[in-house]
Amino acid sequence: MTPNAAAFDAWIRGPFRDMNSELEALYFAQADRANVAGVGDAIKQQLLTEGRDHISVLLGEGNTDEGFDANFDLLGNVGFYMAACRRHELTEPSRETRSPLTEASALAMQLGASLGTVPRFASAHLETHNRAHNGVFKSFTSLEDEITFIAYNTRGAFGYIRAAEALLHLLPLGISHPVAADLLRQAKASLEEVHRYNAELFEVLDVERFFYCVRPYYKPHRVGLREYRGANAGDFAGINVIDLLLGLCRADDPYYSQILVDKFLFMRPDDQLVLRDCMRRQSLLDAFLAELDQQGAPWYQGNLRLFLEVCEAHGRTALQHHEQLVEKFIVQPADEGERADDAGLTASGPPLPVLLKALKTLCDLRAGAPRDDIPSRYRELATLRGLLAPEAS
Ligand code: HEM
Repeated sequence: MTPNAAAFDAWIRGPFRDMNSELEALYFAQADRANVAGVGDAIKQQLLTEGRDHISVLLGEGNTDEGFDANFDLLGNVGFYMAACRRHELTEPSRETRSPLTEASALAMQLGASLGTVPRFASAHLETHNRAHNGVFKSFTSLEDEITFIAYNTRGAFGYIRAAEALLHLLPLGISHPVAADLLRQAKASLEEVHRYNAELFEVLDVERFFYCVRPYYKPHRVGLREYRGANAGDFAGINVIDLLLGLCRADDPYYSQILVDKFLFMRPDDQLVLRDCMRRQSLLDAFLAELDQQGAPWYQGNLRLFLEVCEAHGRTALQHHEQLVEKFIVQPADEGERADDAGLTASGPPLPVLLKALKTLCDLRAGAPRDDIPSRYRELATLRGLLAPEAS
């Protein structure tokens, strides 16, 4: 990291976070907690100017070719700044045709394009690649609820990644391999861990704080001319690797592949490669169907049972995300604040009812729900379930 990049990083971890925290305290103290206009204007201007000063110096420094990790980290810091400017309505994509943050846009686009990612902060910057200094990782504010949210998202992401890794290891072994059972057990246990973390998050996170002080940093905003959706906790390959390798979602389903296409550049390039590769693989579900003639074999019975348990664990976690986390922390407070039609509410931009329908479809695919309007695999899952011999008691 160059001295200029280090100074910017220290600003993001210090004064930037303090200013955001002060602004959140001012917004939250109002009768209308969603209001940002005319509040803390001096702090907002200070944040705008100090950030721009750091970024101008970095832009002047040019491409110092410090390597992927340093540049990705710097992109995250520029992205934090741009997202905070959006949150405080210093920028607003619908009133502008290009980002007024000219220097930040230039640096973000140079970095994003050269790295092979979107030119904005992505969830890896907050979660899986957010280095802690002295026990403290980067966040927009020092609010306990933001720290909790990021920490639990990180735990959830790593849980999914562990499950995905187990399934990836299974690919070259094949479903009849004796060690396949170990890997399926590992995938199931990891998904159960995600479920446990999500249940804890459900209990400990404060709804109002999350809704009014954390979520607004994830709004879409412009970089240069284009508007980019916000990051969400799902912007890593692991969850889709699980969808595809289990066979619950398919790369040839235009609905699902559209999600992947839109998501690729929000992931780190190493993650993109893993997911691209999975799009070409035979799923485990299809592998079990292809070897129906082996249904009586002990390996088939044992591994099929475990496979179906992994599918159930994945479906349960998807339902929990939709029916508990999204419901409690987004749908209910949006209804109460009569903000359900607010376009800026979601990270991806569409009004909440539209987003909810899309999330429900994804959730039903993962849960193998009995729906014929989407390519749910419920019939094939039922066929496979029907092959299981009763368990000896
Ligand atoms: C996407 C809400 C925590 C995984 C989303 C979206 C919403 C949401 C609304 C849609 C993106 C958008 O806003 O446009 C929440 C809430 C959470 C939470 C309210 C907790 C308070 C988590 C956690 C994970 C997770 C802990 C686990 C890693 C995902 C995934 C997606 C997603 C994978 C992408 C869509 C998908 O593949 O299902 N979340 N989320 N979320 N979230 Fe969460």
